[in-house]
Amino acid sequence: MKQKKESLVGTIVSVNGNVISVKMHDRVKSTMPIIDGLLYRIGQIGSFLRIPLGYINLYGVVTKIGADAIPESLKELALGEDERSLNTRWMSLVLIGERIGRKFERGVTQFPTAEDEVHLVTIEDLNVIYGGFDESNSITVGNISVSESLPAKMELDKLVTRHCAIVGSTGSGKSNTVAIMLEAISRGEFPSARILLIDPHGEYNESLKEYSKVFKVNADKQEQSELYIPFWALPFDELMASFPGALNDQQRDYVRGKILEKKIAAIENLKIKPDVNSLTSDSPIPFSIKQLWFELDDFERQTFKENRKPETAAAMLKEKGNPAKLISNTYEPASPGGGSPFLNFQAKGILGFLDGMKTRMLDQGYKFLYEPGDLNPDLDGNVKSDLDSLLCEWLGHDRPITILDLSGIPTDIMSSISGSLLKIVYDALFWGQNLPVGGREQPLLLVLEEAHNYLKAGEDSISSRTVQKIAKEGRKYGVGLLLVTQRPTELDETVLSQCGTLIALRMTNKGDRGHVSAAVQDELYDMVALLPSLRTGEGLIMGEAVKIPSRVKFEQISKAPKSTDPLVSRQWTKPKPDNKEYKTAVDYWRNQKFS
Ligand SMILES: Nc1ncnc2c1ncn2[C@@H]1O[C@H](COP(=O)(O)OP(=O)(O)O)[C@@H](O)[C@H]1O
Ligand SMILES: [Mg+2]
Repeated sequence: MKQKKESLVGTIVSVNGNVISVKMHDRVKSTMPIIDGLLYRIGQIGSFLRIPLGYINLYGVVTKIGADAIPESLKELALGEDERSLNTRWMSLVLIGERIGRKFERGVTQFPTAEDEVHLVTIEDLNVIYGGFDESNSITVGNISVSESLPAKMELDKLVTRHCAIVGSTGSGKSNTVAIMLEAISRGEFPSARILLIDPHGEYNESLKEYSKVFKVNADKQEQSELYIPFWALPFDELMASFPGALNDQQRDYVRGKILEKKIAAIENLKIKPDVNSLTSDSPIPFSIKQLWFELDDFERQTFKENRKPETAAAMLKEKGNPAKLISNTYEPASPGGGSPFLNFQAKGILGFLDGMKTRMLDQGYKFLYEPGDLNPDLDGNVKSDLDSLLCEWLGHDRPITILDLSGIPTDIMSSISGSLLKIVYDALFWGQNLPVGGREQPLLLVLEEAHNYLKAGEDSISSRTVQKIAKEGRKYGVGLLLVTQRPTELDETVLSQCGTLIALRMTNKGDRGHVSAAVQDELYDMVALLPSLRTGEGLIMGEAVKIPSRVKFEQISKAPKSTDPLVSRQWTKPKPDNKEYKTAVDYWRNQKFS
């Protein structure tokens, strides 16, 4: 291949593994030469250079420029030169791939040597480097920063099965990037795409409206569906964590045993009855939590004429309660002096906990959990619809995206609930792995917005455990993760390291950048230095879903994901509301409802 003189920028001085030190030629006066009428920028971090080796072209990405790029061994020699030339004359490249004819491949089979020439890449080179995506397996998310005419593509298969993380400071454009990626998938030729987006702040309802079905607590019935998470599908620990009080180990075991009894009794109601021996207190079997509460409560309150075992003594019932309304049975008060009526000496001392449990169950804010519509069991544990209808509703509709808007979920149980619902979905796909609805036949992309909220590093929570599990084994079962976070340091490291693709947007926090550089390939370490200076909506895509690490300007979605925070400056210009509204507010509070 004949090399154009104008494109020559320098010569290789040293080769250290795949890191190449280049000295620019003195005759390269400008860092912005014009070749064939096109303007080129030399020495932008993240841009490419070409090293011709016979019929092969090697390509490297610029990771350092200036004095930093001088190899250690040459520092002394270079000291004689004045500072300005130091800054412009040296560059470090990391070899990325090679091209034979029109085919570009990652990795190199040959290495250059000192004195080899280094050339600018032209549009034609870039087309070959960034192109070559299989159209039927790629999505376009924006354009390549160094050359705006080049579309930035990502390979869908790798993106989904090898997991992806999007990191960046607040306002760097993470949510927009998610919306653009999901829109690109939805708009594309993938009519059966299955994406589940966990949206803690309800940001996406508008921006992905065309392609999604939204589930929300207190839904606006015309546009959204009601989000229910049946308490009986929660593992035992999470169900207990949804109540305010605490139990000691013995009391806990006692309640666990009672729940298991209820679940075993309730399998009679199921169309297909599971094997009793496979049941645990974690099994997703509908049972009545009100009936359970009533029975636990009753046992604590009973009084007896004789001081005998409750099974053999006659209880002194005064007034019958009502489990459906959470009203306790009343008994003759126990005698304070130790005579008849006697207290139940087997009582567990859990009345305080049961009281907290009752308060929660009456709280309208928790209705999505304890009274989940058709999934709410009657006192015998019969349900109108079972877990399969919930899964159908969430995953079986005709739009590619399901948004679970968790903005209406009380924050104290957010982590527990989001973890439980991830577990519900994952377990269903795991056990159904060989079925047509399983993940291998119908892969699922799980998008976790603001993942740091419920994925704290070092925390042993159901959300951490479930996400770790999906990160490790999800690919086998066709479940992929797209994690979004502004605080990579708070994210579990094993999860981040399982992400095959990393999209790093502007990041100002040094600690966070350190965390990101730990997750990228060693040679690209230097590119992380670029992160604080990226524009909004600009990012580095590294890893399996792209051919080469790319600096990309993401498209902007037409309807930006919006945070639902009130616009203070606008609201404060309005006249103050009528003071009698405070009375109404207290009324709502006392009745535990919103309007
Ligand atoms: N690619 C982009 N081009 C132009 N503006 C963008 C782009 N991405 C995001 N923005 C703007 O930047 C702001 C923050 O974006 P957002 O996606 O909400 O950031 P984050 O989720 O990281 O906090 C929004 O106002 C959005 O319109
Ligand atoms: Mg955001």
